[in-house]
This record gives sequence, C-alpha cells and structure tokens, in this order.
Amino acid sequence: MKKEIGNVEIIIEKWKGIKGSLIMALHELQHLYGYVPQKGAQQISTAFKIPLSQIFEVITFYNLFKLKEPGKHTIAVCLGTACYLKGAPDILNELKVLLKVEEGGTTKDGQFNLDVVRCLGCCGLAPVMTIDGEIYGKVKKNEIKDILAKYKKKEQK
Ligand code: FES
Repeated sequence: MKKEIGNVEIIIEKWKGIKGSLIMALHELQHLYGYVPQKGAQQISTAFKIPLSQIFEVITFYNLFKLKEPGKHTIAVCLGTACYLKGAPDILNELKVLLKVEEGGTTKDGQFNLDVVRCLGCCGLAPVMTIDGEIYGKVKKNEIKDILAKYKKKEQK
C-alpha cells in the first residue's frame, strides 16, 4: 500500500501543535496505510518533537494500532460466547490450517490477515466471520475453502 509522502505531511500539519493530538495523528496515519509505518512514525516524531520511543510506547499500549502492514483482506472470526458455543474455534482452526497463519498474523503472500473478535452483534448467525467487513453467518467448516477462493479470484482479475 504505497501512498504519497505528502499525505503524511498533511496529517502532521493538521495536528502539529495541538495538545494531546498524537493519537489522532497516529489514527490518521494508520487509516492512510492500514498500519503505522516506521517512516511515518519517525516523521511525526520529528514534527511533534516527541521521541520515537515514546510514540512506540503509545502504539504498543493501544492494541488498535498495527505495526505491520496488513494483508489485502482482513478475516475476523468471532469468538464471542454464542459463536464459541456454535463451533467458532473449529472455524478458526480451519482458517489457520488453510492459510498457514496464526491469529493476528498475515499470510506469506500478503493476501489475508487473520484476526479474532468478540461479538459482532449478530449472534443469531453464529458462528460468524467477516472478510473485509462482509458478514458470513452460520459458517460451516467445509465452506471456508470456497469462501476464501472468492477473494483469491478477485485478486486474479
Ligand atoms: S458472539 Fe459472535 S456475533 Fe455475537
């Protein structure tokens, strides 16, 4: 995900000098790239006159920030109570096997992120997973291969 460096400068200009704005600037940086790239964090560090070490403390404290470039597609498996009881752990394990990735990780080809969430608010559809926000309900282990294939095909177009 390559973006123009000018976009980081726009974020810096927007938030520089505003008290308590570091997190907002980091949010926008992550929104721009899908993660917080070291170079962008360095630019913010210089512009805000905040040591890079302090910026990384903030990034690692809040687990919503990502330090690694995410895969093109984000899979989220719900492990909330309803989904858990309806077999979500099996869904998660199948995804791990098929994608050869652990939760929180990105596949080697950079196509998929595998995340775990707690309740997506549609428990009646348990077990639920999403891919790029698209909801898959009442997922069966043997359907996962076909679901993933849809996204792999999109990449080939
Ligand atoms: S527990 Fe999975 S959607 Fe609510």
